[in-house]
Amino acid sequence: MRQKIVAGNWKMNKNLDEAKELIKGIKKEVQAGLEDGTRVIIAPCFVNLHYAAKKTKKSTIEVAAQNMHQANSGAYTGEVSADMLTNLGVNIVILGHSERREYFGETDELLAQKVDAALENKLEVVFCFGELLEDRKSGNHFKVVENQLKKALFHLQEADFKNIILAYEPVWAIGTGETASPEQAQEIHAFVRELLTKKYGVETANAISILYGGSVKPANAKEIFSKPDVDGGLIGGAALKAEDFAAIIKSI
Ligand code: G3P
Repeated sequence: MRQKIVAGNWKMNKNLDEAKELIKGIKKEVQAGLEDGTRVIIAPCFVNLHYAAKKTKKSTIEVAAQNMHQANSGAYTGEVSADMLTNLGVNIVILGHSERREYFGETDELLAQKVDAALENKLEVVFCFGELLEDRKSGNHFKVVENQLKKALFHLQEADFKNIILAYEPVWAIGTGETASPEQAQEIHAFVRELLTKKYGVETANAISILYGGSVKPANAKEIFSKPDVDGGLIGGAALKAEDFAAIIKSI
């Protein structure tokens, strides 16, 4: 069901002591001014997930993992399975982030396997996609986005999409301070919704939440979120400060 969502991807930041501080701050700020019906999700790194899940259990804040392995168990040193996440009370996972694609070689085909494993384990998936600067400069950004979605998601059944949240993150806007304009975000979000309509029908397409990520800050969030096909944001740097994260939530 389409919802307003603000999710904070903490990436590889905050040790446990710092995570405790940030969670305390977010709980204080968010409980005070949460827009009715808006979902707030935080995605700490693996070592802080158990604490985060415990501390937010009775709050409206949800906890997501930033990744998971596609196997349920086995000889995969350093990896974490879906079952380990759900056993902690973590029921959302971010998959396909551009940093996983770039630094860890995650392909669309591998991501299709991860999405399947997540859905089989009843996890909700925040699926990231987005073009590189050279794709946009050469006018290939629509094709790139279409291929990413088709290869990783379009094998799914219509019913699977109730557990998928999409996050458009133009790679050239991540961590650069170079935010996509609200019009650029809306254009891709509308294009993606059209792709989903053609493949799965208008009901499914209109029910999915599509978040924008890439240098969202308190100063630009309201305008980006005001676009008809932007249902919220996936926030990086600004999620690491409780007051900034709360200001972005209040912008929705
Ligand atoms: O996943 C969200 C992230 O990639 C966006 O990062 O720092 O540009 O908000 P940032």
